[in-house]
Amino acid sequence: MHVLKRSPDLTDPLAPYLDVDRTRVEHECWVIGHMVAGLDGTAAVQGKVGPLSTGPDQSLFRRMRRIADIVMVGAETVRRERYGVARLDAQARAARTSAGRPATPPVAVVSRSLDLDWTARIFTDSPDHARTHVITCAASDPGRRARAAEVAEVIVAGDDRVEPAEAFAALAARGHRVVLCEGGPTWLGEIVAADRLDELCLSISPLIGGDPLPVCVNPVGAGIAEFELEGVAAEDSTLFLRYEKKQKAGEPNE
Ligand SMILES: NC(=O)c1ccc[n+]([C@@H]2O[C@H](COP(=O)([O-])OP(=O)(O)OC[C@H]3O[C@@H](n4cnc5c(N)ncnc54)[C@H](OP(=O)(O)O)[C@@H]3O)[C@@H](O)[C@H]2O)c1
Repeated sequence: MHVLKRSPDLTDPLAPYLDVDRTRVEHECWVIGHMVAGLDGTAAVQGKVGPLSTGPDQSLFRRMRRIADIVMVGAETVRRERYGVARLDAQARAARTSAGRPATPPVAVVSRSLDLDWTARIFTDSPDHARTHVITCAASDPGRRARAAEVAEVIVAGDDRVEPAEAFAALAARGHRVVLCEGGPTWLGEIVAADRLDELCLSISPLIGGDPLPVCVNPVGAGIAEFELEGVAAEDSTLFLRYEKKQKAGEPNE
């Protein structure tokens, strides 16, 4: 064990995240999970993430989208949080366009039921360069799928359920090589169970007493996934941890 010593303040809190080489892909794209938890591991307070997220966490959350080719989120989070499209400040948009990337990343919603409000801003406000995606499975209702296709780009990835590997292959085929998953815990659990979470950026908020919902819900029968600590930062009482998937001997990231 060792004590972490305080270093000079970062001029840009995103800097440690921008520095990561995400081209070391084991599969066709690199998948980041970005979550906030209370000290007791809770992922929400009365069904919302807002009360859990401190000012420094909200600031990093907004900035992280600069890194993403696409932002991915489970349908229940979209319904509960009334998710909108990804917005970036002028500096982040300029940095992306000067690197030859679209000014903002699209958002991809994962859903089997397709029980979504197609008049919501996440669908009506998405710009042409970042049209919202809906990722579903073949068992979803064909009528709802047709309705989704009027307002979003629809990807079918899996038969009875969305298979993470098929979803990531479809996104990579569209040029999305860095996928930023903003939850929720159920969809993140599916990604981990499929052994596809490359990086976890976890903010620890200094409070206890939220909902009995962990940041990652492991599907029944899922094994243990192991990670290695790659970065630690703090602002006020919020802790920012960055983990990467533990590599097995012989894998490309070694
Ligand atoms: N702490 C954080 O960082 C954080 C981040 C995000 C959200 N949250 C909180 O988490 C809560 C919501 O999370 P949640 O875990 O209940 O839901 P979620 O992961 O956001 O979404 C679950 C939904 O995603 C779809 N889905 C998941 N796996 C699927 C698969 N394999 N195939 C097809 N569809 C699949 C299903 O949508 P359908 O039902 O439409 O089929 C499912 O009901 C909210 O309270 C939110 O505030 C916290």
